[in-house]
Amino acid sequence: MRTIAVVNQKGGCGKTTVSINLASALAELGKRTLLVDLDPQSHCAVGLAVPEDQIEQSVYDVLISKSRGEPVRLKEILWQISDHLELAPASIDLSAFEQQMVGIMDRESCLRNVLSETRNDYDYTVIDCPPAVGLLTFNALRAATDVIVPAETGYFALHGLSKQLETLSILCKRCNQHINVRVLTSMYDIRTKMAREILGELRSHFSDKMFKTVVNFNTKIKEAASFGQPICEYDPASKGQADFRALAEEVIALQAKSEQHQMVNTLAGQLERISSSADELLKTAKPQPVKTEEPKPQPLQKPAVAPVASVPAKPPQRKLEEKLSDYYGVNHINGSTVFVSLYPHAQEVYIAGDFNNWHPQKTKMQKVGSSGVWQAKMNLQPGRYRYRLVVDGKWQQDPYNETIEMNPFGELNSVVEVS
Ligand SMILES: Nc1ncnc2c1ncn2[C@@H]1O[C@H](COP(=O)(O)OP(=O)(O)O)[C@@H](O)[C@H]1O
Ligand SMILES: [Mg+2]
Repeated sequence: MRTIAVVNQKGGCGKTTVSINLASALAELGKRTLLVDLDPQSHCAVGLAVPEDQIEQSVYDVLISKSRGEPVRLKEILWQISDHLELAPASIDLSAFEQQMVGIMDRESCLRNVLSETRNDYDYTVIDCPPAVGLLTFNALRAATDVIVPAETGYFALHGLSKQLETLSILCKRCNQHINVRVLTSMYDIRTKMAREILGELRSHFSDKMFKTVVNFNTKIKEAASFGQPICEYDPASKGQADFRALAEEVIALQAKSEQHQMVNTLAGQLERISSSADELLKTAKPQPVKTEEPKPQPLQKPAVAPVASVPAKPPQRKLEEKLSDYYGVNHINGSTVFVSLYPHAQEVYIAGDFNNWHPQKTKMQKVGSSGVWQAKMNLQPGRYRYRLVVDGKWQQDPYNETIEMNPFGELNSVVEVS
């Protein structure tokens, strides 16, 4: 069985559309296919006309029940969609999964363990991931043999792609499986010059790490979703259906190829290469004047006071980055607590928590070289501290610390224990 995780931390880039229609196209080609919805928004059920109010148990129940000693089997929650396609629906409860699993051993492998039980029942499992890098996405990566990263062909989408591949790369350093990662152009509008240029650039940089198939922007695809049908049912003669059939055929052909050649690269290695290509690409791509795909794009230039002059020559700098990448999150080094995070495009990062009475201005994180790594070192008394990062004015949880708890505002605090 191949398990394909459809991952991109950006919302609206086509994850659910790709998941539903790729799974349906694989099923139409006679492959026994399971679609797993890991996004608490349950869009796969909506897109396949599964009535949400009738979903009594979801992936959440299967994932969480095992840790509570009353396992719900995957088979119990499945909805049959067509001859060869079944859906494991999501539910809003999934948004609490991360908090509920705090402190539970092996919490990143819940999905992998569940899917291993039905390994022989399916040829393909497609996992639609939520638009965030958290425990759910990590579960999908742990279970995956392949990752598809849908990417739009707008300048700011490219910017997001670079950042997100970087983050994925760091996450995946922790799982040592062999995973094939490919970028898929997901809403290609051939009529725009910029889309054509960016696709050309993507192809020349990522070469074999991109699907040859491109999913074109096609209004029938949007319509199909609103009618609760995959495109192969809604309009079998459409261009959208031709694209997804081609994608499914490419996926099947790639599987045969990878079985022959036995991929040896680890996921982390591949992502790192893809991500550095995306960075090079960003340096050369020119932003177009007005295209507000994202409301507040982060500034692309380095800050005016970038410490360029003091940056050492390239080789030592890379070494430093590599070294630091093992320490993202919280580390206890020689009696100090060191917080390390990666925000390549941020101008200011502060940390606020129980240790500074939640005054971010008291603790500014320092930028390390020009690598986008930020760190803060503190001498903390033994105890338990809740904290959040403030990145260019936006409060957020530490993306590299899995220990979190809900605060009274319904947001997540990161938590560190100093012993
Ligand atoms: N190839 C496409 N052509 C036209 N519309 C698309 C296409 N792919 C996605 N969309 C539309 O874009 C929106 C976002 O897509 P979706 O798959 O929900 O993204 P995500 O799951 O990443 O948030 C949806 O309204 C979807 O119908
Ligand atoms: Mg989605």
